[in-house]
Amino acid sequence: MPARNAVVHLRPFNENDQAAAIAAHREMEGEFTFLFNWSDDVDWSDYLERLEKDRSGTDLGEDRVRATLLGAQCDGVLVGRVSIRFELNDFLAWRGGHIGYGVLERYRRRGLATNILGQALNIARENGVQRVLVTCDDRNVASARVIERCGGVLEQVVAADSTDVAFRRYWFD
Ligand SMILES: CC(C)(COP(=O)(O)OP(=O)(O)OC[C@H]1O[C@@H](n2cnc3c(N)ncnc32)[C@H](O)[C@@H]1OP(=O)(O)O)[C@@H](O)C(=O)NCCC(=O)NCCS
Repeated sequence: MPARNAVVHLRPFNENDQAAAIAAHREMEGEFTFLFNWSDDVDWSDYLERLEKDRSGTDLGEDRVRATLLGAQCDGVLVGRVSIRFELNDFLAWRGGHIGYGVLERYRRRGLATNILGQALNIARENGVQRVLVTCDDRNVASARVIERCGGVLEQVVAADSTDVAFRRYWFD
């Protein structure tokens, strides 16, 4: 079990991550999408190739933006993941934001998400994002705390409507 504030290593998934990443995806199903656009009928090598194209901005398809999906590891163990979008489409500019992260339940409350978001902010900036938007559900106390600890400034709490729950929009300048 990683210690509180353990070193977290962010890196692209590779061939050796298949079992752990899919297990994490299944474990978080219903709460959080660990592997975007992955399903049982998708071959892991094809999935890695798609992620590589997303990273380089190749063959993105309509409304997709250049982005990276990184596994978060502590002592070689997959503890979570982060998605960093280097551009925003309409959905991301309002609701999705530049960065989304998740930590497996058994590794929570050790400061890992705070560490992951801190590193992800640097990666976003290295890739040309100047102001970073991060959003979370208004009821997601843990995520709001992570964002605020990393220095996010609340822009607004968007009220719930018939299509969505209330959510918070934060900016990092
Ligand atoms: C949100 C999430 C990533 C937090 O991960 P984590 O590694 O537990 O976060 P941290 O340990 O860095 O916690 C940061 C702060 O939140 C607080 N916190 C964490 N979980 C909490 C909870 N359930 N209730 C209240 N506070 C909580 C911690 O106490 C900590 O504050 P502190 O250091 O001042 O005590 C994790 O709960 C998760 O993966 N949830 C499901 C996916 C999700 O919601 N992702 C965010 C999408 S925007």
